[in-house]
Amino acid sequence: MAEFTLPAHSKITKGEAYKAPADSSRVKTFQIYRWSPDDDRNPRIDSFDIDLDDCGPMVLDALIKIKSEHDSSLTFRRSCREGICGSCSMNIDGTNTLACLKSIDDVKDDVKIYPLPHMPVVKDLVPDLSNAYRQLASIEPWLKTDKTASADGERKQSQDDREKLDGLWECVLCFSCSTACPSYWWNSDEYLGPAVLLQAYRWISDSRDDYKKERLDALDDSFALYRCHTIMNCAKTCPKGLNPGKAIAGIKGEMARR
Ligand code: SF4
Ligand code: FES
Repeated sequence: MAEFTLPAHSKITKGEAYKAPADSSRVKTFQIYRWSPDDDRNPRIDSFDIDLDDCGPMVLDALIKIKSEHDSSLTFRRSCREGICGSCSMNIDGTNTLACLKSIDDVKDDVKIYPLPHMPVVKDLVPDLSNAYRQLASIEPWLKTDKTASADGERKQSQDDREKLDGLWECVLCFSCSTACPSYWWNSDEYLGPAVLLQAYRWISDSRDDYKKERLDALDDSFALYRCHTIMNCAKTCPKGLNPGKAIAGIKGEMARR
């Protein structure tokens, strides 16, 4: 593999370089952003050569292998390895995505891995999501109803009403979309961002919820909702194929109709 170079203006330095064993058959280089509050070599890019014939197919497999075999201090979030928990979101090959759903073979050159952009970094590939989770809590993402459940404990809805939630319930709250959105980069203290607004629409659209009016009132704010300028990076980047921009348009439509 060729030596990698960083742009001349970069404040990021070159870090460690780990070579693959001499008998490796299919070597791929992973360039990984490193930053630690306890390290004065910050920030830096470490480079790891991995034999793909001795590694699983996904970027998360390579990260786990690197952590197990080369550098146990490499820090990243992951849990399910199935695209369900949303915790392994990071920027891979220039796009926010889930490391467990990103095939190594889909990246032509070296695999460049950074934390989700425009978020404070806790360590290495782990962003601080405190603000995003505060914003999620603010939209009260749970069923709010004054009605009691039926005798069997279920709250039923028609098949048509259930279908209105398709394209919304699948969100795994990885925040790939919010951290790809320029409006969220500049206004994340007040703009709720695509991930949280998609969740808000999921509950606004639920026929079993009795608090649609209150939910819309809470969003009727020039920053919380209307900082969306339909740039649509959210839909381009979502690793689950969802369209948060469409959900935001849905909320704006509900606002206009009331
Ligand atoms: S809409 Fe997609 S990108 Fe955004 S948080 Fe949900 S799953 Fe992640
Ligand atoms: S590890 Fe759960 S979504 Fe990737």
